[in-house]
Amino acid sequence: MENLKKQVGIEAAKFVKDGMIVGLGTGSTAKYFVEEIGRRVAEEGLNIVGVTTSNVTFDLAQSLNIPLKSIDEVEYVDLTVDGADEVDPKYNGIKGGGAALLMEKIVATYSNDCIWIVDGSKIVETLGKFPLPVEVVPYGARRLLAKFEDKGYNPKMRLSGDDYLVTDMGHYIIDLHLEKIEDSYALADELDNTVGVVEHGLFNDMISKVIVARETGVEILEK
Ligand code: 5RP
Repeated sequence: MENLKKQVGIEAAKFVKDGMIVGLGTGSTAKYFVEEIGRRVAEEGLNIVGVTTSNVTFDLAQSLNIPLKSIDEVEYVDLTVDGADEVDPKYNGIKGGGAALLMEKIVATYSNDCIWIVDGSKIVETLGKFPLPVEVVPYGARRLLAKFEDKGYNPKMRLSGDDYLVTDMGHYIIDLHLEKIEDSYALADELDNTVGVVEHGLFNDMISKVIVARETGVEILEK
C-alpha cells in the first residue's frame, strides 16, 4: 500500500512545472507528493512556491527546503495536489479524515486546478460510508451535535485521546456517520447555512483529475 501511495504521489508531481505556485495537500498519500516535490527542488532545481494546507505539511515542506508562501501572499495557486477520503463518479468527494479540511478547502478554492491522489478503495458510487467531517466553532458545538442528532445524522465529536480534537485553526470536528449522501450539493448548502459550522468536508466540483493507485498500476481519471 505504501508503495502504491508513493507511486501516485510521484505521478502527480509530474504535473508540476517550473514557475508554478503549488498547493501542497495533507495526509499519508499527499506526503509522498510533497516529498517528491522536495526531491525535485533539491536535485533538479525545480523552481516553485508551495502553499501548504496544514501545520503538518508546512513542517514537512519546510524540512525539505521547499520555498513557501501563505495563501494570503499569493493571488492564486496554479495546481493543488491533495488526498481524499472518498470520490464519486461526478468527481465530488469527502475530505478531512486528517482534520485539515478547512485549510485544504481554502487553498483548493483559490487553485486553478486540483488533482486528488487516492488508492482504489476510495473510488465509490455514492459518498457517505466515510464519516463526513464538519469543522465547527467550539462555542455551541454541543448544541450543533444535538441538532445533527435530531436530524438523524449520527454525529460524533472527533476525539484526540480523551479530549475533543482541536484543528490547526482552533476548531472542533463533528463527524457525521451518514452511510449514504443522496445529494452532496443539497447537504453542502445545508451545512454552509448552519450557524457555527465553519466548513465541511464535501468538496463538490473542485477537481479535474483523480490519480488512482491500484494493484494493477496507476490510473489517471479525468473529468
Ligand atoms: C486530510 C485529508 C486527507 O487528504 C484525506 O484524509 C486522505 O488522507 P490519506 O491519504 O492519509 O488517506 O483530507 O484532511
